Amino acid sequence: MEERKQILVTDDEPMVTDSFRIMLKDTYEVLTAYSGRECLQIVKQHKPHLVVLDVRLPDIDGITVLKEIKQIDVSLPVIVITGVGTHKTAIEALKLGADDFIAKPLNFYELRAIIANSLSGGAKAPKTLPSPEDVITKNYLSTLKVLNRILGARDPYTRKHSKKVSEYAVKIAQELGLSADEQEVMREAALLHDIGKVGIAESILNKPSKLNPQEWAEVKKHTQIGEGFLEPIQVLHIEQSMIRHHHERYDGKGYPDHLKGEEIPLYARILAVADAYEAMISPRPYRKALSPLEAIKELRRCSGTQFDPHIVRIFIKILRKDRAC
Ligand SMILES: [Fe+2]
Repeated sequence: MEERKQILVTDDEPMVTDSFRIMLKDTYEVLTAYSGRECLQIVKQHKPHLVVLDVRLPDIDGITVLKEIKQIDVSLPVIVITGVGTHKTAIEALKLGADDFIAKPLNFYELRAIIANSLSGGAKAPKTLPSPEDVITKNYLSTLKVLNRILGARDPYTRKHSKKVSEYAVKIAQELGLSADEQEVMREAALLHDIGKVGIAESILNKPSKLNPQEWAEVKKHTQIGEGFLEPIQVLHIEQSMIRHHHERYDGKGYPDHLKGEEIPLYARILAVADAYEAMISPRPYRKALSPLEAIKELRRCSGTQFDPHIVRIFIKILRKDRAC
């Protein structure tokens, strides 16, 4: 029988550690610590597979404990628990190498998903130390994910939309024969494609009626704002260009750079089709959703003007295969 993975939960409130134990005991062996010092001692002695860490502890603050854990074992996944309104702390923790964060009040399903995800990405098996560039990139991506979750909290439509768009975009990438790594870039970047909307006023994002021209001009800035978020990390240039160009049009009438045809990066052309289809089949306060058949008709109508015709053909084939229409 496979050995159960050990999870160390550190929180000074026994009610919290008890909840974790009850929620996770069927799948994991749960260890508990009630202070920062106790946590560090258990990490050294028991070498757990993952640590869940409250940022507020009675002796040492959670951020300091996180730094020390990473000095003991840089590959040990740490999930930070934050309270209401402590996004700043979450971002700081992610910069320091935390794998994810979970906000109180705890949600059982979210918690299990975050733990499973961190365990699959941060296995305990000995590995070579990642290069400083890899660590910086990984941490920076985590920070972007937090930013994206903040955007999701401000604009729930965009959160659900980006998830679906990402699924469609990966299917198109697969069908086009892109490699597994390329599909992964597609998946991650599609999830973040509207991240620049975090810089747009909430009154515009959630406006229940149609936008006026000034508001529309504001929304259009999200492509450049989003690209700017990724700029500090040079290795993310594919993601950057995809975010910048996902509203370009095949006929050159899109934004921000009016690129035409294959001047538009392939990833951005894929995203444009997935993005438009998902938007069309989703209801908005100011318009009804189109049926999948109506949306396909619209994709066809705009094939060669707004969208790359080859990608439209491939996407329609995928939808037919998945019986979405
Ligand atoms: Fe967008």
